[in-house]
Amino acid sequence: MTKVRIGFIGAGWWATANHIPLLAQHPDVELAGVCRLGREMLLAVQEKFGFPFATEDYHELLAQGLDGVVVTSPHHVHYEHARAALLQGCHVMVEKPMTLRADHAWELVNLARERNLHLLVPYGWQYKAINHKAKHYLDQGLVGTIEHVVCQMASPTKALFGGSGAPPAQQRANFTEPDPATWQGKEQGGGYAHGQLTHAAGLLFWLTGLRAQTVQAHTSAPNAQVDLYNAATVIFDGGALGVVSGAATLPPGSPFQVDIRIFGSDGALFLDLERARLEVVRHDGTRLAEELAPDAGAYSCDDPPARFVELIQGRGVNDSPGEAAARSVEFIDAMLRSAAAGGAATRVY
Ligand SMILES: NC(=O)c1ccc[n+]([C@@H]2O[C@H](COP(=O)([O-])OP(=O)(O)OC[C@H]3O[C@@H](n4cnc5c(N)ncnc54)[C@H](O)[C@@H]3O)[C@@H](O)[C@H]2O)c1
Repeated sequence: MTKVRIGFIGAGWWATANHIPLLAQHPDVELAGVCRLGREMLLAVQEKFGFPFATEDYHELLAQGLDGVVVTSPHHVHYEHARAALLQGCHVMVEKPMTLRADHAWELVNLARERNLHLLVPYGWQYKAINHKAKHYLDQGLVGTIEHVVCQMASPTKALFGGSGAPPAQQRANFTEPDPATWQGKEQGGGYAHGQLTHAAGLLFWLTGLRAQTVQAHTSAPNAQVDLYNAATVIFDGGALGVVSGAATLPPGSPFQVDIRIFGSDGALFLDLERARLEVVRHDGTRLAEELAPDAGAYSCDDPPARFVELIQGRGVNDSPGEAAARSVEFIDAMLRSAAAGGAATRVY
């Protein structure tokens, strides 16, 4: 069987810690080429992973006859890089946030659809069994019509967004640290909302199929250049109400918190990834509580790169498709526009 030829745009902290090493070990993958800025680091990445081709110009990479492109550049260039790869006819795995702007996100979704290409956003949580079970319960209609949602996320990322720039201890760099501008540069989409809350929002939209319609929000940035806290109220299509909260400042080493509570006409579902809780309670008296390992909700991003390869090979299911990621992007885009306007009610689309 011919190997799947993968090229990488962006090879900083996350690509060299996760995607490139995982795909380097994959028996069906050929690491075809890499693109990043900075000649010295580019050559260091090329040597470490044995890439036959390396360039600082992504157009040159896209001319290498690739099957798939992995985009792990800073948020604000995801759109440009993913769009160019799709236009070149490549399947794309583009990091979260897929884009910073709603119109850009939907453009990528439409481009992929029109060209019959896979578009995957590697939200690692969406590949975990606990979340698949939660989605199964919701798809079965166990809570009925969704009427209210609470979605809270907190991360040990005070340094990443507001300090030295170091990543969380759970995800240490093994080759290079992130450029602080990637996470703390306002013009690059730095801050908790695009950097972390996107995970919880992406999971919420994937689980529920909801689409946000109107948002009122505030953010704050104590002693930081970019948002560390997010507080939003949401009206979804169909009239469900939601409250979404984000906090960047758990102490180092603390487990990530994602707590999603979904209340519906027939019951409620409680999903807590920190404490590995998945429970459904229904008005007919049914109560379902999953027996889970204590780390069943722990974050990792091991599965998406391999799934991307499977999809290119014509197998498997995309558990983090661009369409759900776009609903997360449009929500966060509107949330930040509302916050910038002092909490004004802001249309999402
Ligand atoms: N899914 C996850 O769990 C997860 C985890 C961490 C990071 N990420 C995402 O990965 C992305 C990268 O984060 P990072 O911490 O690795 O950043 P980083 O600053 O360490 O790396 C960014 C890379 O992009 C390259 N780059 C920048 N502009 C470029 C351009 N115009 N053309 C080509 N290359 C360019 C840089 O040279 C560098 O190699 C972010 O969008 C982040 O949200 C996702």
